[in-house]
Amino acid sequence: MKSALPSPSSKDRLDADLVIGRLKRLQAFEIQSARLLGGWLPGIARWETKHQLGLHLWQDASHSKELRTRLWELRISNPDRGLGADIAHLVQGLAGAQEDYEFLAGVYLVFKTELVAMYTFIADQTNEVFDAPTISILRRLLPEKQAQLDWARREIPLLADTEEKQQRLQRWLTYIRSLFVEIGGLAGEPEPAPSREPATPLPGYGNPRLPFARAYRDSRFTLNLAGMPLPEENDRAGQVLFQFFNYTQEMQAVETLGSLLWETQGMEWEFYYDLARHCYDEERHSAMGEMRLQELGHKVSDFPHTVANYAWRQLIDPLRRYCVLTYVIEADSFKYKHKTYQNHLASGDLESAQAVLWDIMDETLHVRFGQKWVPALMKHYQYPGTLEALVAECRQILVENTVNPLQKKAAEAQKAAGGTAGSAGF
Ligand SMILES: [Fe+2]
Ligand SMILES: [Fe+2]
Repeated sequence: MKSALPSPSSKDRLDADLVIGRLKRLQAFEIQSARLLGGWLPGIARWETKHQLGLHLWQDASHSKELRTRLWELRISNPDRGLGADIAHLVQGLAGAQEDYEFLAGVYLVFKTELVAMYTFIADQTNEVFDAPTISILRRLLPEKQAQLDWARREIPLLADTEEKQQRLQRWLTYIRSLFVEIGGLAGEPEPAPSREPATPLPGYGNPRLPFARAYRDSRFTLNLAGMPLPEENDRAGQVLFQFFNYTQEMQAVETLGSLLWETQGMEWEFYYDLARHCYDEERHSAMGEMRLQELGHKVSDFPHTVANYAWRQLIDPLRRYCVLTYVIEADSFKYKHKTYQNHLASGDLESAQAVLWDIMDETLHVRFGQKWVPALMKHYQYPGTLEALVAECRQILVENTVNPLQKKAAEAQKAAGGTAGSAGF
């Protein structure tokens, strides 16, 4: 009688070394994908595209984590060891686009399409009994990756909306495909030397646009140098509008964190994973503001936006920029958040109260990220002083530069109280 169990034949299945080698490269490509999307996020003008990239970079970091967990089970304690320089070469090539639609086309229509093909190949070809846990992981992450590709196929034509742009896009895709041939695809197995040639960069593409000095907005938005003015204390409707409009402005935090993902080099994998999560959370805070504005009868583009906070933060180095965000802006924000939470409850506005409560929980996590990574970055960049001195310096930088009246007020109050590191009162 025939057994109900499958009869795996190891001779026509992938061997363990090959699967492990591929998974090692794939986890690296996934975290690099999060860095790429973050780096380009400020340079992409279309509002909805920015939101989607915030989600995708978090999904990519999560996929990287799933693969690393499996590699750990397969006795690979350091999956980053022994990876080739071709990975960084490809990432630099993808980052070097000059237009947002080119960048997205290279990343989604070539790179992520290849990732999906590789995941499908491994899931189909590895041994369904010996390596079932790998198949299970790949089958779980594939639908998210497929959804990313479906989105990109709809989105890119909205950006490359003229014949000339389409031509540029095709020219860029040809170059990116030649880069893939040069490195031997995601597997890193180039053809023998005589049959391959190094990819030739396109003329005029020598200077990458990253990191972006300014953040872009599309034509629906009016830009202002200053943020929305602080309303009177007893102006309840004005206060609610101010709070939720300011949540939409957290897109600038998304952009700052995105650029940090790209600009900070040589940190351990977990730093990029936490930063990707932080970045995605800020994307959701911006979306939360937009949702509440809509419920109050407004569109996100009804009010002038500012990108000035992103711009001045780009002028300071990654260590101070990340410290300003976590140890100053986020740590100093709790007093206001708790007060408004109570005000919303007292006014019977449960919708606003819930939004603020979820935000408080996210922000508590972000301050913890700061406590975890600011000291690590101080070492990384060989900062000579103490944490207290760094935080005091960063608080002063914020007071002198921010265009958000609330941030300025909170930081000045903290300064007056002699607050330094971790003194946010939670
Ligand atoms: Fe936030
Ligand atoms: Fe935050």
